[in-house]
Amino acid sequence: MSNTNQMPREEGIDHTLSLMREGYMYILNRRHGFNSDVFETRLFGKKAICMGGKEAAEVFYNTEKFRRKDAAPNRAVQTLLGKNGVQALDGQDHRHRKEMFMSIMSPDGLKKLTDITKNQWEMAVDKWEQIDEIILYEEVQEIMYRTACQWAGVPVQEDEVKKLTKDLVAMFESPAAIGPKHWLGRYARNKVEKSIGELINEVREGRVNPPENTALHTFSWHRNLEGNLLDTETAAVEVINILRPIVAIAIFINFTALAVHHYPEEREKLESGDERYAQMFVQEVRRFYPFFPFVAALVKKDFTWNSYKFEEGTLTLLDIYGTNHDPKIWENPDVFSPDRFAEWEGSPFTFIPQGGGDYLMGHRCAGEWVTIEVMKVSLDYLANRMEYDIPDQDLSYSMVSIPSIPHSKVVIKNVKRRI
Ligand code: HEM
Repeated sequence: MSNTNQMPREEGIDHTLSLMREGYMYILNRRHGFNSDVFETRLFGKKAICMGGKEAAEVFYNTEKFRRKDAAPNRAVQTLLGKNGVQALDGQDHRHRKEMFMSIMSPDGLKKLTDITKNQWEMAVDKWEQIDEIILYEEVQEIMYRTACQWAGVPVQEDEVKKLTKDLVAMFESPAAIGPKHWLGRYARNKVEKSIGELINEVREGRVNPPENTALHTFSWHRNLEGNLLDTETAAVEVINILRPIVAIAIFINFTALAVHHYPEEREKLESGDERYAQMFVQEVRRFYPFFPFVAALVKKDFTWNSYKFEEGTLTLLDIYGTNHDPKIWENPDVFSPDRFAEWEGSPFTFIPQGGGDYLMGHRCAGEWVTIEVMKVSLDYLANRMEYDIPDQDLSYSMVSIPSIPHSKVVIKNVKRRI
């Protein structure tokens, strides 16, 4: 007698189109429909399992059960991720590479980052005071590009700033896009990998000397478990794994501006300068607004979970957006309420905007602390250090386009520094 049950299954040949049509809600809609945190479907032409919620996240981040090698769809590898980066490693190789990333996330490193971020905001406000109107999303991308390069030890060439910012943006805006926008992302990745690769060669030849403990220095001289330097292409992919996502924080900063605008009662609480409240606000922005819809892994070897069979090699998606909006975890999940984080117990499997589990043992985002610190600095400017008007515009955002960005990209007018 079998002690396994058939997983709830979405019938049909393939549901990739539904995934594209429903975006962030695809997995959550079916979790509600099947009344189950796990279901089977067919995506990208093959069998796939989708799951969400705390227990699902726990099993998904069990490295005995899931692996990452070959899990990411090719269109994400060619744009967002690059080849042979930390995201595709498993076991000892992953841990060793992840230690390289986490070594630059020290308290001292983060302090340098917040100082750089503040300085860049200061210069931006000076500039904006001279202009009638700005598109916040685009301006913040540039703030973040300059911040990322300075922090990572990558020299900035003034005449290249706009072009390179656009290239890094294309990498994270294009993985789910169709047609020219997608191809722009691939082109941008090839171009930036080449130029960062050349920079790494210059570091190794002693012609460029980035400060110690920066990403460029650390990654250029990092040795793998066999004692060899990373090949140039892989080292470039990893330096870009610092630059690109720091620029992507512009998306969360745009949503932060939206939250400050939509919830004026919160602004008063932020004005008190209470650091703890600022942290709670930023956490709620990361929970509430859509960014990463899901993460992908492959079943490492056959196992049974909750009486359902997981077969080796099956593509499995963990519902990031849906776990952050799971009513079993969050009271009134669709209400924006920073106060919920006052009592939050801090489980690594319930609040997963940047992945869950452990940083070193698993694939949880290496840049989560970076993101939080940069968002706190940016929130302070948006809520306390600037006055500005938000003219009529379309501030709505899609639950289908990935990544989602407010449609107007947040236009602001009459920026003045608050004294
Ligand atoms: C902009 C906001 C960000 C979001 C929404 C985000 C989200 C994520 C997610 C969902 C993952 C995958 C987790 C998994 O596979 O289980 C991830 C991994 C990663 N992120 Fe982020 N991230 C952000 C910012 C950053 C920043 C600022 C950095 C670097 C400074 C960074 C570096 C990385 C790296 C290196 C990985 C791969 C970790 C691994 O595979 O072990 N991310 N991120």
